[in-house]
Amino acid sequence: SMHINSKGHLEIGGCDTVKLSKQYGTPLYVIDEEQLRKNCRSFYNSFKADYPENNVIYASKAFMTTAICKIIEEEGLGLDVVSGGELYTALKADFPVKNIFFHGNNKSAEELTMALEYGIGRIIVDNWFELNILNELSGKMKKKPNIYLRISPGVEAHTHEYIKTGQIDSKFGFPLFNGDALDAIKYALNLENINLIGLHCHIGSQIFSYKSYNAEIEIMMNFLKTVKDVTSWEVEELDLGGGFGIAYVDEDDPQPIETIAKEIIKSVKEFSNALNLRLPGIIVEPGRSIIGNAGTTLYKVGAIKNIPNIRKYVSVDGGMTDNIRTALYGAKYSAIVANKAKKINFEKVSIAGKCCESGDMLIWDIELPQLESGDIIAITCTGAYNYSMASNYNRITRPAVVLVQNGNADMIVARETYDDLIKNDIIPDRLINKNK
Ligand code: LLP
Repeated sequence: SMHINSKGHLEIGGCDTVKLSKQYGTPLYVIDEEQLRKNCRSFYNSFKADYPENNVIYASKAFMTTAICKIIEEEGLGLDVVSGGELYTALKADFPVKNIFFHGNNKSAEELTMALEYGIGRIIVDNWFELNILNELSGKMKKKPNIYLRISPGVEAHTHEYIKTGQIDSKFGFPLFNGDALDAIKYALNLENINLIGLHCHIGSQIFSYKSYNAEIEIMMNFLKTVKDVTSWEVEELDLGGGFGIAYVDEDDPQPIETIAKEIIKSVKEFSNALNLRLPGIIVEPGRSIIGNAGTTLYKVGAIKNIPNIRKYVSVDGGMTDNIRTALYGAKYSAIVANKAKKINFEKVSIAGKCCESGDMLIWDIELPQLESGDIIAITCTGAYNYSMASNYNRITRPAVVLVQNGNADMIVARETYDDLIKNDIIPDRLINKNK
């Protein structure tokens, strides 16, 4: 939870953010544990509580550390991983392997071997190449993994509206439109070393309305009917992917997850009845909507440059290395001045990062209380795809992450050091000047 304390400072999880910035330095990622757990519970209660056959899988690409895995486990959610590194992190956190789902369009033989060795819950097979090597590896290792096939349904969601033809041109999944998906199912059903139990699809990210999901469900359920007619096989589990949107700025107006869940469950039921199909367990894979609004980044203001009548640039001590979303997607964010959280003396400014390129901006044109060097700016809703997409561009060290709750702060990722930056560098002997 966030509020303004008696000093006029922003408080998150009962911790004064100005104090946090002094104690841990800036930039600093702050994760509000209560908000994170609240988001997990909304999903759990909406999708799973009354329907044990359903499952909610947190898309860990949004933000993952070993401590986060522990919270996800405690809240009864599963984990979607997309690389050996994410899988390794989950395993190191002792995450229950049966509730780990492995995604990705180009998993390596090593990654698949790792998944088979640990017996993770589901492998979502993306393409023919993977289908064949997985079957081969499973045979060699005497395993029989439960798999889904990823289907490319030809629906692409664009935030509010949806179009039904877009996503055919995609690197992900078996396309529905040309019979590829049906062929893959027939083929997979005959493979000896895998157990096909479901289908997966994903239509995009930052989706605000259940209508996009209903378009996806309509296509998938009709496809399941065709599959049943042709093969007599029926899915046990239908994975609808993630993409549930969140509000970054006031204009964003996503429907509550309770509403979207109700509509999704209703729609799957109606189609199952109408088409005489077995009711599948519904799987969803939220990432952003679990962690996004639980994260805030604290920055310290440095240089301020005013170009009269044009723009006032307020530079902070981070930027595209800790949040690339503004530069990469034109993403919008809101901010609060942590040490002047009361809304007074507004002026329009743009918040710039410290990297050596003009596109390194965090927020264009925002009204904030008049800023001075040394002020602490809190950019909100930075939990998803910020730390997980962070880089060392310009050899900038990645910030620490602290988890706050009930007035306590625990560091869950240490700030990188300059030594971390060079720890994998090697100087070949011949470049070492021995005469020095
Ligand atoms: N499932 C699959 C198969 C996905 O590809 C994704 C996201 C998710 C679930 C989770 O989606 P979410 O609920 O977080 O929207 N870096 C971009 C977002 C990329 C999303 C990629 N796939 C951003 O910062 O907006």
